[in-house]
Amino acid sequence: MTGLVLKDIRKAYGQVKVLHGIDLEIKEGEFVVFVGPSGCGKSTLLRMIAGLEDITGGELYIDGQLVNDVPPSKRGIAMVFQSYALYPHMTVYDNMAFGMRIAGESKEEIDRRVRSAANILQLGPYLDRLPKALSGGQRQRVAIGRAICRNPKVFLFDEPLSNLDAALRVATRIEISKLNESMPDTTMIYVTHDQVEAMTLADRIVVLSAGKIEQVGPPLELYERPANLFVARFIGSPAMNIMPVTVVGTGDATRIKLKDSSEVTVDVATSASDQGKAASFGVRPEDLAIATGDEFLFEGVVDIVEALGEVTLLYVNGPVEEEPVVVKLPGIVDVKKGQTLRFSADKTKLHLFDADGQTYRR
Ligand SMILES: Nc1ncnc2c1ncn2[C@@H]1O[C@H](COP(=O)(O)OP(=O)(O)O)[C@@H](O)[C@H]1O
Ligand SMILES: [Mg+2]
Repeated sequence: MTGLVLKDIRKAYGQVKVLHGIDLEIKEGEFVVFVGPSGCGKSTLLRMIAGLEDITGGELYIDGQLVNDVPPSKRGIAMVFQSYALYPHMTVYDNMAFGMRIAGESKEEIDRRVRSAANILQLGPYLDRLPKALSGGQRQRVAIGRAICRNPKVFLFDEPLSNLDAALRVATRIEISKLNESMPDTTMIYVTHDQVEAMTLADRIVVLSAGKIEQVGPPLELYERPANLFVARFIGSPAMNIMPVTVVGTGDATRIKLKDSSEVTVDVATSASDQGKAASFGVRPEDLAIATGDEFLFEGVVDIVEALGEVTLLYVNGPVEEEPVVVKLPGIVDVKKGQTLRFSADKTKLHLFDADGQTYRR
């Protein structure tokens, strides 16, 4: 079984610490996505797994074997980068065959693997072309094909789609998803800052920020039960609305006071010591609706209406200082800029965070 175990993995460049102790177990065949803002250490962590960066501290096991000092070529991994790094003077076929020729594979074996990879990635018609005669998406598929030919136990991707335009990104993402299905025993680790890629591809997402793991879990678990404010804001688009509140009643359910002094009960348990404390209240744009009865969460003035066809986004001023609350309504909605409206929320989907940004558990 080709799982990975990361034990207290640390990285420093000179005095500058960029990873502060990463603990993670990845099962054989799992598709794990590292997601987080630019500069949080995603590529560094991936390159350490690949063996392209020294490990400053901690232990990395692949397949039960400690590999801290094992060179990249002996780790059974293949990596696909953002830049395709194809040889410009070689055909698609030769680009994919190159590594196997170096490794001394037989001509028949090389041919079998190149054609199998080309088949998976629908590159058959392009095998005799040079990279310059391919689109960006096709070039990235060649880079992926080259990695498949190496028959890796672990497949690493570092933002492989970020050089592609939006339509190609979607098509290639679906390609990678199919590739994952066709290689069920191959462990895949995929780095991105794009949360749609993370949500759609991952068995489990690892959310990183500033060199630390914030939360690990299946995509919908992170969406429904973020561990803290960072994950709550990072997962979901448009981002979760956050409002500063005060806890005015504790117990199995918690009573909170909003900026305009209205009070709301949230289905989250707090203890007596939380009484009077500052907290953050979170509600996702898609969990808000225009209030139909007397009960409402907040009132505000519609500042911007974005009609996207399948949804309408409202940016509402009032309930939070300095930033609008975003409301996502299904379909086309007859609302105009300047209108004052009342909004209600799905009570089962409210979030509450303590003063340190940790989630109060339901
Ligand atoms: N070779 C290097 N020397 C010094 N600092 C580096 C080096 N490579 C990366 N860093 C720093 O490490 C941090 C993490 O970088 P990186 O892993 O590339 O982030 P991400 O891939 O999440 O955008 C950044 O602050 C970056 O500036
Ligand atoms: Mg990076």
